[in-house]
Amino acid sequence: MFVLGIESSCDETAAAVVANGREVLSNFIASQVDTHRRFGGVVPEIASREHLEKIDAVVVAALDQAGTTLDQIHGIAVTQGPGLIGSLLVGVNYAKGVALALGLPIVGVNHIEGHVYSTVFEYPAPEYPALALIVSGGHTNLFLLPGPEKYKLVGRTRDDAAGEAFDKVAKLLGLGYPGGPVIDRLARRGDKRAVIFPLAQINDPEHRLDFSFSGLKTAVLRYVREQAIAQVEDADDSPQQILDLCASFQNAVVRALVRSLRKACEIYSPRTIVLGGGVACNSELRAAVAELAEEQRVPAFIPSPVYTTDNAAMIAAAGTPKLLRGDNHGMQLMADVTLRLQNVDVEDPKLRKKVRYRL
Ligand code: KG4
Ligand code: ZN
Repeated sequence: MFVLGIESSCDETAAAVVANGREVLSNFIASQVDTHRRFGGVVPEIASREHLEKIDAVVVAALDQAGTTLDQIHGIAVTQGPGLIGSLLVGVNYAKGVALALGLPIVGVNHIEGHVYSTVFEYPAPEYPALALIVSGGHTNLFLLPGPEKYKLVGRTRDDAAGEAFDKVAKLLGLGYPGGPVIDRLARRGDKRAVIFPLAQINDPEHRLDFSFSGLKTAVLRYVREQAIAQVEDADDSPQQILDLCASFQNAVVRALVRSLRKACEIYSPRTIVLGGGVACNSELRAAVAELAEEQRVPAFIPSPVYTTDNAAMIAAAGTPKLLRGDNHGMQLMADVTLRLQNVDVEDPKLRKKVRYRL
């Protein structure tokens, strides 16, 4: 089955053709990073306009790259939410237009479920139960997967997403946007023990796997003020104090993420660990998750950076089992900014099945 995937939830306009849910025939991504850089973050209105300008060319490029034509496509999978409403609408409406014109089935995919599927191109199917840590600029979620397509949200951020913390700290230090890649690069030359940032404690026993990054962000701000650290002109020419601060901050984020993942391993004894989302590009996080997995004797599936950041191949892969089952959302499909991924409650057997994408 050839599935055309379309992703436009944030600032990447992306399209891909995936065969049988695993084989990437093309994965085309038009990033808007250069447009938004000068504003220090994504400007929603500009993002949706740029999606609108690019979407058609991006889909054509994905079909060309795959050596396919639209009449060889069996179904369409498009990101339905969560994301920016203007951005989502462009992808959803474009996809509906193609589906209507060609009489193809179309399914809406939860963007975060897409991130969970980003391992399928380079790893075998996960063994269950699995734990998936999805960390990006917009989300920081820890899921338990008791089986395929079953998700229980067992941990989430109370405030900022991990990637958002990277972006805000980078902005504070004058390192530019997006912050994750540059902090990752500078941290390699810094001393992570230079500043010891304490990790947030979540005392509520019901939510002990949750994360919080706003306190860390404030601690970095306080440190910058106390030490009178000036913004840098050129990131790669940063003084040692900034390199040390980047290393210490990054280490605090990684320790917080791995601490919850370790606790979750102890509670749920997973048979696979999945890491996804843009922050999964982070070299220290990748190494720390691989180390934890070894310690727990569980395989860790950590995809290549091209699949961990936003892309449409993961959306096509997540949509394929739904299309194979005969799902078709048709023209009723609507973008949903607040779409949540949680469809099982494994603690309560009475609720075990059914509630689909609870809002
Ligand atoms: O998944 P993604 O492409 O888009 C969202 O859905 O948000 O993630 C983008 C986020 C940004 O916050 C960016 O700073 C972060 O991922 N990121 C990183 C790294 N590369 C990208 N964070 C830490 N280290 C990296 N190497
Ligand atoms: Zn994402």
